[in-house]
Amino acid sequence: MAKAIQAIRGMNDILPDHIGFWQHLENTVRTILTAYGYQEIRMPIMEKTELFARSIGEVTDIVEKEMYTFADRNGDSLTLRPEGTAGCVRAGIENGLMYNQIQRLWYTGPMFRHERPQKGRYRQFHQIGAEVFGLNGPDIDAEMIVMTARFWRALQLPEVELQLNTLGSNEARAQYRDQLVAYLSDHMDQLDEDSRRRLNSNPLRILDSKNPDMQTLIAGAPQLLDHLDSESADHFELLKQRLTQAGVAFQVNPRLVRGLDYYNRTVFEWVTTQLGAQGTVCAGGRYDGLVEQIGGRATPAVGFAMGIERLVELLVQAQVGLPDSAPHVYFIMAGAEAEQQGFLLAERLRDELPQLRVLNHCGGGSIKNQFKKADKSAAQLALVLGESECQQQQVQVKYLREERPQQTVAQTELVTVLKTVLAL
Ligand code: HAM
Repeated sequence: MAKAIQAIRGMNDILPDHIGFWQHLENTVRTILTAYGYQEIRMPIMEKTELFARSIGEVTDIVEKEMYTFADRNGDSLTLRPEGTAGCVRAGIENGLMYNQIQRLWYTGPMFRHERPQKGRYRQFHQIGAEVFGLNGPDIDAEMIVMTARFWRALQLPEVELQLNTLGSNEARAQYRDQLVAYLSDHMDQLDEDSRRRLNSNPLRILDSKNPDMQTLIAGAPQLLDHLDSESADHFELLKQRLTQAGVAFQVNPRLVRGLDYYNRTVFEWVTTQLGAQGTVCAGGRYDGLVEQIGGRATPAVGFAMGIERLVELLVQAQVGLPDSAPHVYFIMAGAEAEQQGFLLAERLRDELPQLRVLNHCGGGSIKNQFKKADKSAAQLALVLGESECQQQQVQVKYLREERPQQTVAQTELVTVLKTVLAL
């Protein structure tokens, strides 16, 4: 036998035993997004490399070391999308969705980052993201965060906590950055290698360092919250008020800076302690400068994306009940005549009862064997069609999950009987 080929490290198959959780999550989130007025948009999974370099930031981990970038046959540099915001903004500008308009958009699909794979961190992973364009007030930030809180309630995932911060305006942040660099430069001996590298390129990210040896230094650093411009401070106050009024608890985390460069003002993350090191299940914030930065007219924007794998893992852990997807009926057919009649009868049932889940037995075999398969399928009923049922235009209804005598039903009555028995 030839050696079997395996999937690429960090890129997983999603198998049928988990797909119910994915669909439950996707359906729940889609229903709520639609109820808040969001419309779906679908972008290509590849973009020109320059788009990500310009939007996510040249000196971020993603752009520096995690992108799947390659030259295509024309020699153009392309990148598999590491996230959806850049492509969504590009699509909005290119298709004239932005200028003087308000858009609430959402998307879902695979994203690609060449990170070190571990539980909850993959090289191909999936996000559901949402972006709002054209609104600059804290009301939409609040609405968006309250909507995410609604997702977790609807999914019965209470163990997630909201962390909130504001990065202020670009100008205020630039001033703060100078102070931070001055403070850190005075303590150069305490900086680890990574932080020294970031000192001039991306000093705010140093605040996010997980290195225990650096925590005292970070705790003593000047805080961005003390250097906010007054508009950003007001924006943040109003956002906090709205969340409190809506009963959404949050924790202000002054060290929350995010790993992508495009944010200003509001940033937030939903985190859980149930997933080990990769505990952020949803993250986002405001990015008022990005549309202009990649060639559109200045348009305020705010958005978030959730990691589907991490949320599915929470659903699995919480043993959240899924909608039943087992067949209602398993169709047993004995003999050539029954196979032919049964095939057509099953199609008629599907015409008249679109919500009925029918699994036909295919491939012949003994009745005993077919009953075994019926049992294994978890169907509630077996419909049995043999030679004599064919002649009499009847079918036997056998109850597989309850003690109840078998019934002989005329084929013309079958829809009515199934409707009653299965409460369809
Ligand atoms: P992000 O924080 O890079 O933000 O990713 C959002 C979420 O995607 C994370 O919180 C996590 O749940 C999931 N995620 C990220 N990387 C991985 C991975 N390697 N494996 C599994 N899950 C992962 C963004 O992507 C922004 N575009 C969010 C945004 C939208 N901001 C504004 N609009």
